[in-house]
Amino acid sequence: MASEKDNKPADREVDKISGTETTGHVWDGIRELDSPMPRWWLWTFYATVVFAIGYVIAYPAIPLVTNATTGLLGYSTRGEVAKQIARAKQAQSGLLEQISAKTLQDIRKDPELFQFAVAGGASAFRVNCVPCHGSGAQGGGIYPNLNDDDWLWGGSLDAIHTTLKHGIRFTADENTRTSEMPAFGRDEILESTEINDTAEFVLKLSNQEHNAEAAARGATVYADNCAACHGDAGQGDPEQGAPNLADAIWFYGGSKAELVAQISAPKLGMMPGWQNRLDEDTLKQLSIYVHSLGGGE
Ligand code: HEC
Ligand code: HEC
Repeated sequence: MASEKDNKPADREVDKISGTETTGHVWDGIRELDSPMPRWWLWTFYATVVFAIGYVIAYPAIPLVTNATTGLLGYSTRGEVAKQIARAKQAQSGLLEQISAKTLQDIRKDPELFQFAVAGGASAFRVNCVPCHGSGAQGGGIYPNLNDDDWLWGGSLDAIHTTLKHGIRFTADENTRTSEMPAFGRDEILESTEINDTAEFVLKLSNQEHNAEAAARGATVYADNCAACHGDAGQGDPEQGAPNLADAIWFYGGSKAELVAQISAPKLGMMPGWQNRLDEDTLKQLSIYVHSLGGGE
């Protein structure tokens, strides 16, 4: 083990083999040469110093309280992004201008515009509609599936556009789509036996197992109270947002108990209108997109 004495600096002397002066440090008898830094290393080091000074002058570098020094070139990553967005906007503007100038039907017919609108609509859908209608627009529960050709309020381009613009039972918009199915049980419009019979008749309409006698009685109640909205054969009426009752697609459930519940005290869906949140070009693209999902009329 090295004694304390060995580690003390000895006198500087010239190493006989390399001809270089030593630093005078000795560890376990090994002496340290005082070799100069290699030239290339020094010059690289000086170059980085010069670069750093230049960088600090030209670019934002020194953090201050709220901001950093701006630098002579006025560069900022945020500014670059803004420029890129501006360039992208410009590249799109030809198409966007056409979207705002043309009718939905004309956009639908023009393959390039159609493709552009579907892409734009799909991305607006991801941001605004997915939380309720699902990522594939498949809906679920009280949220309608937008892929099928079962429409509450109509599946034409214009019908979809109106639904989006003004919403459904959206009280903040006076042009909103609205229709109220009466609460036949809660408001004592029908007796509970009549409600039961009507539910049996709806089971029959939708080709489910039912009690034939009750359904026959229910047919009369249905004709008097329900056909005005849901149609004589239960085909529904998009003017009134009344769903088709003769198919297997249910919003609130097609079992006997669920039908009785809906007739007694109906659930009524609500969707906000989008005209104050999305601009008209986006609404048009969304309409084209939703229409393109497969169920467009
Ligand atoms: C004023 C129009 C109107 C009348 C009258 C009316 N309904 Fe409705 N009904 C609607 C609307 C609108 C909806 C959809 C509610 C929604 O969108 O949330 C609906 C929904 C339903 C549903 C739910 C369908 C589903 O997919 O889950 C059933 C079942 C139903 N009605 C049955 C009846 C029966 C039976 C009667 C007659 C006793 C009746 N309705 C009378 C407008 C009406
Ligand atoms: C807060 C939840 C919610 C959001 C967000 C939402 N919707 Fe809806 N949407 C609904 C509900 C609920 C209905 C059914 C209303 C009813 O019962 O009539 C509906 C109905 C619709 C309909 C009518 C379907 C038909 O059968 O006629 C369309 C089209 C539609 N939504 C598209 C959209 C688009 C596009 C967006 C995004 C811009 C969107 N929705 C965002 C809840 C929502």
